[in-house]
Amino acid sequence: MSDIDHTQYVIAEQPYYRAVADEVDLYEAAYAARMPVMLKGPTGCGKSRFVEHMAWRLGKPLITVACNEDMTASDLVGRYLLDINGTRWQDGPLTVAARIGAICYLDEVVEARQDTTVVIHPLTDHRRNLPLEKKAELVQAHPDFQIVISYNPGYQSLMKDLKQSTKQRFGALDFAYPEAQVEAEIVVHESGVDPAVADKLVQVAQRSRNLKGHGLDEGMSTRLLVYAGQLIAKGVAPSAACRMALVCPLTDDPDMRDTLDAAVTTFF
Ligand SMILES: Nc1ncnc2c1ncn2[C@@H]1O[C@H](COP(=O)(O)OP(=O)(O)OP(=O)(O)O)[C@@H](O)[C@H]1O
Ligand SMILES: [Mg+2]
Repeated sequence: MSDIDHTQYVIAEQPYYRAVADEVDLYEAAYAARMPVMLKGPTGCGKSRFVEHMAWRLGKPLITVACNEDMTASDLVGRYLLDINGTRWQDGPLTVAARIGAICYLDEVVEARQDTTVVIHPLTDHRRNLPLEKKAELVQAHPDFQIVISYNPGYQSLMKDLKQSTKQRFGALDFAYPEAQVEAEIVVHESGVDPAVADKLVQVAQRSRNLKGHGLDEGMSTRLLVYAGQLIAKGVAPSAACRMALVCPLTDDPDMRDTLDAAVTTFF
């Protein structure tokens, strides 16, 4: 089963991750127990970066799957393909991860249909196996294998949520946008702007986050602050950078844009 090239999934260089609380230690303990982990938090707050950093830290390959509502169980597990010699089985990303002992990161798993999500159940309890029904094979997970999923609590509806029997297979870590000083440090590191500029960007974002539920579904993410910083670092005027990276992506509502522009003008 080891004709898979593991090295393509290994993260060679340390991904920068600024720890916010005790998440690194907690994750390491969870990994040591091979406990499935759920990362909860809003968009652009560092969940993906964290899992990349942890995979690097633990020296394990990382396989990321972006989930969506059209995804089927076969997309995760694998399928038979037709080629000139007939049919050939191709492992899906979850199966590859289980075989090679990777950390399998299922991003936005709520997007997937429930019949897709249940294929992870036997991998996330004491069985640690994955039945490939079409192939009549039971894959026993490699001892290093672990599942991590991300979950954005803001976007759930009754129709689209994980079943309790799925949720209760995971330990969960809550993520949020970091406190101002830490977030500014991240923006400086990621974009190269001056600390004074980063401070202002964070203050604009905090204003926008107060508008969550009052006309905005979500405030400006750390990711967008990094974008704004990158534009400013390239010589774009701060007001134009903020409009492009912070205001326009967030909303199309003219009044809300005015409100956000005003927040930008307050600081820049
Ligand atoms: N704690 C952190 N340390 C380092 N960088 C961070 C941190 N938090 C956020 N970032 C920066 O924010 C960007 C977005 O983070 P990331 O892609 O991890 O978000 P996410 O939570 O996975 O979002 P989504 O739910 O939309 O996938 C990263 O590329 C990085 O530049
Ligand atoms: Mg992500």
